[in-house]
Amino acid sequence: MQVISDIASLRDIRRRWQLEGKVIGFVPTMGNLHHGHLRLVKEAREVTDIVVVSIFVNPLQFGPDEDLAAYPRTMAHDLAALESLGVDVVFTPQVEDIYPRGLEQQTFVEVPGISYMICGASRPGHFRGVATIVCKLFNMVQPNHAFFGEKDFQQLQVIKAMVTDLSMNLKIHGVSTVREGDGLAMSSRNNYLTTAEREIAPALYRHLKSIADAIQLGRRDFSRLIQEHKQKLLDDGFKPDYIEIRSAESLLHPSHEDTHLVILGAAFLGRARLIDNIQVELT
Ligand code: PAJ
Repeated sequence: MQVISDIASLRDIRRRWQLEGKVIGFVPTMGNLHHGHLRLVKEAREVTDIVVVSIFVNPLQFGPDEDLAAYPRTMAHDLAALESLGVDVVFTPQVEDIYPRGLEQQTFVEVPGISYMICGASRPGHFRGVATIVCKLFNMVQPNHAFFGEKDFQQLQVIKAMVTDLSMNLKIHGVSTVREGDGLAMSSRNNYLTTAEREIAPALYRHLKSIADAIQLGRRDFSRLIQEHKQKLLDDGFKPDYIEIRSAESLLHPSHEDTHLVILGAAFLGRARLIDNIQVELT
């Protein structure tokens, strides 16, 4: 496994793979890898000849009051995990190389509509930062396939929209959410939870699941259902940010014809902002 920090060396090796006719898979991450990230790497390993993983904590996608400085950085552990999965290249660029003209001067990729709702409404500029870094990383790695978790469902839809809108020549794969035994979606931000909060945390998933079950059983009073579960989250000790029931394809409010829904939730628990979602297929 090669660890590459500079863009020119990455381009050199990419050119060699091109001449050898290799199919390239790419998994962008911000590091502090857990089994969720590793599932994406395993999927990439199955589909492609070469697997590239990037580790880059992207300042452009963090708001001024968010956890950029505190974000967990565990490079030695991450590299060991990736080596054991047979990753070919880990790309670990520096902020100055990625944003040579500074964050303020940066050209942005903005995916309108879908970027401004749900998580985007709570985190202004977040998806612009995500789309911009992912576009830049795609330009550097030039993958044929890229892998994203459904855990960040809206992010996955933003990336798919960007790829369509900008005619990018690669396939985006969505990978299902990897959970702890008690249902909590794995996340680097779970590290922020105290022992007591960690006990409470799986309730977010349970509430989303109970909404999904209610819809499967025929409930259609979505606003009421959402209100009830926001109250339950409050009672459990969360500070709910949103619960939304949306069309899984467009992320718009569902019409009567929509049969593929997604229930998305975000809630603060102590220092951590947890997000999760569940898809529902209506038959
Ligand atoms: P990060 O939070 O490190 O996540 C990297 C990838 O792992 C994302 O595609 C995310 O959806 C996926 N992932 C995280 N937890 C998961 C879980 N429990 N199960 C399945 N997949 C999971 O998402 C980002 O980084 C950044 O926004 C990035 C795309 C790298 C751009 O900076």
